[in-house]
Amino acid sequence: MIVTIDGPAGTGKSTVARGLAERLGFAFLNTGAMYRGVALACLRGGFDPSDEPSVGRLLSELVLSFSQDRLLLDGEDVADQIRDVSVTDAASLVAALPSVRQALVLQQQRIGEGTDLVTEGRDQGTVVFPHAECKFFLTASPEVRALRRVEEMRRKGVTAEFEDILSQQQLRDQRDESRAHGPLRPAEDAITINTSAVSASDVLDQLEAVVRSKLLQRR
Ligand code: DC
Repeated sequence: MIVTIDGPAGTGKSTVARGLAERLGFAFLNTGAMYRGVALACLRGGFDPSDEPSVGRLLSELVLSFSQDRLLLDGEDVADQIRDVSVTDAASLVAALPSVRQALVLQQQRIGEGTDLVTEGRDQGTVVFPHAECKFFLTASPEVRALRRVEEMRRKGVTAEFEDILSQQQLRDQRDESRAHGPLRPAEDAITINTSAVSASDVLDQLEAVVRSKLLQRR
């Protein structure tokens, strides 16, 4: 069974998707990490992350893989580096390039073949796995999402201004929602959950209940 969890940053997608995969014994795929990996490779190589021909060439020689949910770039563990602010910005640019999306969508579909998988991103229920049996779309108010990001950065010892985070988030949301390929939007058959005032563990309980009832119906 494929379970898709889409939505913007700061809605708790990663925490919930990882937890759900663990509870169900399914594999977990964080597709944002793949876009971040391409962005990191661009920055390291000195390429403009919005220059499609250069990014395409780079991607054709790049091997992205996972080891226990940590992203490997040509075999090197880059799970920590891809969380850098510079990578977050560049990822939003490479994610708008159609050829990059096409290549990563194919890789994601291959990862999902014949597997029980919980996958999270922006286009998992709409483009990558349109026939997934369980689709969720998480939302939260922009302020709550920005606040969560500020707190996450503080925990890592990085000082961040709420207003700056909010405006950067708005810019990335606009890019995600307005791109021609794989824009951020809920699939028609997705269940939308607003996580603004709900704890991650309550969201997780809700999702688990839905998936388990689908699993029972399959028998
Ligand atoms: O979820 P995240 O913040 O790690 O995602 C990083 C970037 O990749 C973000 O700009 C959105 C983009 N992305 C995407 O376009 N499609 C996906 N399936 C996953 C992420």
